[in-house]
Amino acid sequence: CGIVGYTGSQPVVDRLIEGLRRLEYRGYDSAGIAVQAGDGTLSVTRRVGKVSGLASAVSNVHPEATCGIGHTRWATHGVPSQQNAHPHVSCDGSIAVVHNGIIENFAELREELISRGHEFRSTTDTEVIAHLVEEAYEGDLLEAVRAVTVSLVGSYGLAVTCAQEPGRIVVTRRDSPIVLAHGEDGSYVASDIIAVIRANRDVVVLGDDQFADMRPQGIAYSDAQGETIEPNVMHVDWDIDVAEKGGYPDFMLKEIHEQPRVVRDTLAGRMVGGALKISELGMSLEELQLIDRVYVIACGTSYHAGLVAKQLIEAWARIPTEVEVASEFRYRNPIITPTTLVVAVSQSGETADTLAAIREARIKGGKVFGITNVIGSPVARESDGVIYTKANKEIAVASTKSFLGQVVSLTLLSMVLAQAKGKFTQAQTRLLFGELADTAEQIERILADTTAIEEAALACKDANDALFIGRGMGSAISYEGALKLKEISYLHAEAYAAGEMKHGPIALLSKGFPVIAVATQSPVYDKVISNIQESRTRGALVVAVATEGDEEIRKHADYVIYVPRVRDAFSAITVSVPLQLFARAIAVARGCDVDQPRNLAKSVTVE
Ligand code: G6P
Repeated sequence: CGIVGYTGSQPVVDRLIEGLRRLEYRGYDSAGIAVQAGDGTLSVTRRVGKVSGLASAVSNVHPEATCGIGHTRWATHGVPSQQNAHPHVSCDGSIAVVHNGIIENFAELREELISRGHEFRSTTDTEVIAHLVEEAYEGDLLEAVRAVTVSLVGSYGLAVTCAQEPGRIVVTRRDSPIVLAHGEDGSYVASDIIAVIRANRDVVVLGDDQFADMRPQGIAYSDAQGETIEPNVMHVDWDIDVAEKGGYPDFMLKEIHEQPRVVRDTLAGRMVGGALKISELGMSLEELQLIDRVYVIACGTSYHAGLVAKQLIEAWARIPTEVEVASEFRYRNPIITPTTLVVAVSQSGETADTLAAIREARIKGGKVFGITNVIGSPVARESDGVIYTKANKEIAVASTKSFLGQVVSLTLLSMVLAQAKGKFTQAQTRLLFGELADTAEQIERILADTTAIEEAALACKDANDALFIGRGMGSAISYEGALKLKEISYLHAEAYAAGEMKHGPIALLSKGFPVIAVATQSPVYDKVISNIQESRTRGALVVAVATEGDEEIRKHADYVIYVPRVRDAFSAITVSVPLQLFARAIAVARGCDVDQPRNLAKSVTVE
């Protein structure tokens, strides 16, 4: 999603549309603006679809207006529709709000507001903010917004304007980016640097719980207590192309770095009063208890998320689980009964084979559960229940953050199944949930120092082939590691369950042949070490991904990439990150276009 706002001496509508166009690359399903009209009211226009649709709708609207806010939406709560598009306004139409992020306690806030007589027009979490600000407003918008944020749980970047105070926009944030700039013709705000650097290359990066009070003449900054603060100014000398990528050289790297947020957002609001809650499951406890077989169906990277899910569902819920590529599943008359759960995993939610597999499963009477990144997508619409991965729009063709969102969502689903089957107590679920949430910070640690990954990549960059090996969870994630490498670097890579090495792939090994081994702490650690030794004896160059503190592994591997210690069940989450970075580093070293690899498409809507 993207936020823009402007107050100054020039017509606002054109400026908002220009800002929204700059943010559109992040994805859109609807867009809207609210401007202070000359007659002292707020004029709101919203449209489903691209910014160009909104632009034609407002082309001759309020040329006199010089203050307003705008938003381009990528739905997280509520389907894409005109009603759910931002800005959202209060009952009396005097307050307009644009919001990025997720208000976790919106359901209870909404109920309270309804009991106090507020009427809601959308199903979004954002609308509660407009109503709360309207209630709190006593003539000073900044004070009203400050008061309201105290009751918000979750993440937000907010820009708020009101009819009573011409030329004023109030902005704040928590865990969601906001930048501001003051230029010759006024003050600008956006959720992304790309939309403000034309005004001034010295931009203010707003901190958590800080407030910006925007007026045409300048912007005043304060903290949660109302004390004036010195803003954090950053000089941006990137060109526009780099700015779109948030300062990263390519979208893939930017998206890899977004993964801690993806973990947090995917888990947000799932633990309610100490209990795991997936309200979109679409299945009763009794139905869950009856499930006696699970199929995970997907394509590409999403299929690999399924391999991880199999490990978890079988280990935790003890339900036999098969993972199958959708293009096979749809044509082979799979055994499906009313107690079969089919889990369809698809980032785009529109992959043709996956959709056909869903339809096949439903015809056969199975329950279908979707895991997708796109609200309202065909996979979401055609499934009985759905979990959204909250990765936001993914631009690089090779999937990274969506994969992580899928793994986290499937982990939640596995926990729900284990609970329904009586295998987990609530206390066990809570403990696991806490550890799962901790992986966000563990990924941040991996991202903070990538030297070892880059060194290993440089050592492998000129190879023609590579082998990824692991056992158990390590085997599941090896497949994804090999796929990432072949997709973006065109280096032939294969994954194998490490125990199978001796039955074939070992014949490939010769001096310097890269073997990437997932050797994190697990019940099969010793077995993986012996497979590493087998490879080394044949001259392989071994890159091991191992658990921090494991010094022993250095004796067996040429390069060691450490990841924080997590329980084996969560190792796919941590290990996938260095494998993504490893593939990317090799692709960059080989001069490949990492974001748009040859012959591949982001979503495959034909068979
Ligand atoms: C294409 C993409 C892959 C993706 C696969 C499945 O091949 O290039 O990155 O994993 O489709 O897509 P889906 O949207 O169904 O997850």
